[in-house]
This record gives sequence, structure tokens and C-alpha cells, in this order.
Amino acid sequence: MGQDTPFYHLEKLPPKREQVETIAVLRQTNRAATALAELKGIAGTIPNQSMLINAIVLQEAQGSSEIENIITTQDELYKALTVNKLAISAETKEVVNYRTALFYGFNLLENQGFLRVNDIVGIQQELIDNTAGIRSTPGTVLKNDRTGEVVYTPPQDKQEILDLLSNFIDHFNQNEPDLSPLINLAILHYQFESIHPFYDGNGRAGRILNILYLILNDLIDIPILYLSAYIIENKTDYYRLLNQTNKTGDWEEWILFMLKAVEITSLQTIGKINTIRQLLERTIEKVRINSPKIYKKELVELLFEQPYSKIEFVVNHLKVERKAASRYLKEMEKTGILESQKVGRETLYINKELIEILKR
Ligand SMILES: Nc1ncnc2c1ncn2[C@@H]1O[C@H](COP(=O)(O)OP(=O)(O)OP(=O)(O)O)[C@@H](O)[C@H]1O
Ligand SMILES: [Mg+2]
Repeated sequence: MGQDTPFYHLEKLPPKREQVETIAVLRQTNRAATALAELKGIAGTIPNQSMLINAIVLQEAQGSSEIENIITTQDELYKALTVNKLAISAETKEVVNYRTALFYGFNLLENQGFLRVNDIVGIQQELIDNTAGIRSTPGTVLKNDRTGEVVYTPPQDKQEILDLLSNFIDHFNQNEPDLSPLINLAILHYQFESIHPFYDGNGRAGRILNILYLILNDLIDIPILYLSAYIIENKTDYYRLLNQTNKTGDWEEWILFMLKAVEITSLQTIGKINTIRQLLERTIEKVRINSPKIYKKELVELLFEQPYSKIEFVVNHLKVERKAASRYLKEMEKTGILESQKVGRETLYINKELIEILKR
């Protein structure tokens, strides 16, 4: 490490209560908590939860990877997930990895009810496709993308990183008495990014931890609140406030930023769920009226769970013959619900209207 690189000593958690619970923070916590509770309620009323999870998780995988400039199209992604052995770009692979890593963490949490430091390592491994693990060689610094200037030097010593991580995971698993978990979410996210335990993938691993923390604290039941879109839109502030907190140890603005992210994202997600639900109801009606012979509610729901569908999915899901499955899909193409596209030897049936909603 050069003499001139700024080094800020990273304190262990928790910060002093009066530094994080200011009046402005408490006010914004209320707004965020209300919006999030509403989202939790609405998500709970969706009959087929995997439908929602699938669609929204993929959006998040795409968004979160975009922060790292991994750009893929929705079309590429769905094809990658739907067509077996399709050759996919490195970018698409990364987004698919993000989704795998998220479900990996979600399952661990469901089964154990807590996370271990090793589970975070596992999540990062799913993301990055290598086994480098926790940083053990010094040299990692955070630079300003444009100017190349070093803005933050995370802890370099492996033992220090491990100590900080074990302090982090203690506070992740066990909530502070009386401190709102939403305030703690902001603190934990800052802390994780500042420990910066890996050579790469710290941002994405940290964003996955955010969602898992909300689930752990029962603030949502399924992984559907994603802050990445908000972070992309406010990337400059996001970096600026991380930096500022490093330098000044002043938490308020950072916590307010994260609380605002929770509030705005909850409201946007509620809007999205409602739009999806209306489309589902409209589609069910359409099939019932236009194609009564093939109408099955589960068939329509499948098209929302798998917006890129294929005969095989229908066969497995509805336990019908290939011929029948193919007839169903073709019929729905005729009535304009689906659009077909040939990819290699496979024909995909795309729920276009749903894809349009998800893209927004
Ligand atoms: N000054 C800072 N202090 C603490 N953390 C920071 C600071 N600047 C950036 N970060 C964090 O570092 C992350 C980037 O680290 P890294 O490249 O390891 O993660 P990534 O997942 O590959 O990238 P990205 O987050 O851009 O998708 C940012 O997302 C941010 O959370
Ligand atoms: Mg990176």
C-alpha cells in the first residue's frame, strides 16, 4: 500500500445509538416501514408465489449486475434459462449466476434461520464462479471510476477482515433490541461494503445480503424487494455517501439514503405486482372466453411463472401429452396471448405483455 493512499480505520459494529437514530432517520424509518409492510401484505395475497419470485428475481439479477456494467437483454436471459445447452455470453452467465446465488442464500436462510460467514463465502462463489474466497493478499483499493483516484482502502490484513466479518455476521443474525431492522439494514450494508471481504463481487454479494436480511427479520416473506434499481438510478449519491461515511463516521445521510431506497422501491414493487395481477386476471378471462376447450387456470399461471414457455414446461406442469401441450400453446398464440419464436430446435412461447411490464 502506498504512503499516500487514504486509510480509514473501520470500526466494529454497533455504532453509537445516538449517531444513527436521529429524528430525521426515525421519521424516514416510519415511511419506509409502512411502504414495506404494505408490500409484504400485497405479495402475500398472490396465490402463486413462485410466479412472482421468478419474474422479479430475474429483474433484480439483471439490475444488480448492471451496476457492475454487465449488460444483457431480457430476451437473452430468458432464452438462457429456457433452452437447454444454449451457448450464452459471459454477461448472461453472470446474471444467471446472480439468480443462482440469491436462491442459494434464500434456501440457506430458510433451512438454518441464520447465516454463517462461510455462507457469505458460498454466495460470493456462486456469483463469481471461482474459489478465491476471502481476500488474503493485500492491494485491493476502491477507486473513483473516472479519475482513478483511490477513495477508500478496505482492511488489508486477513485476520482483521475475518474479525470484522465475524462481528458483522453476529449483528446480521441477531437484531439489536429496539433498533429498527431497517436502520440496521443500512448499517450492515455499509459495513459489509467497507469490509469488502472479496477481491470482486462485494457489491452484488452485499445486495443479496440486503434482501436476505429483510427476510430474516420477517419484513418480507419472499425475495421480492430489490434496491438495485434505486441504487443504479442514484449511483453517484450511493458512492458519495459510502465515501462520506468512511471519512467522517457520520451515519445520518447514508441511513436516510438506504431508507429512502426501501420506501421508493416498495412503492414501485407494489405498483408492479398490481399490474401483473391485473394482467393475470385479464388473461385468465381471455382464455376462458376465447378458448374454453383448453382453459385451465394452472396453464395461464404457468405462463406467468415462465414468461418464456415451451411445450416441455406445459407437459411437466399440467401432466398432459406433448400433443395437447403443443395445441394449448398454439391456441394461445392464435388469440394473441403468446408470441412464438424459434431458438435452435426449440420453439419458445413468450408472454409479451408480461415481459413489457417487467421491463418497465
Ligand atoms: N467508498 C466506499 N466505501 C465502501 N464501499 C464502497 C465504496 N465505494 C464503493 N463501494 C462498494 O463496492 C462495491 C463494488 O465492489 P466490487 O467490484 O467488489 O463488487 P461488484 O459486485 O463486482 O461490483 P458492483 O457493486 O459495481 O456491481 C460497490 O457496489 C459499493 O457497494
Ligand atoms: Mg467488480
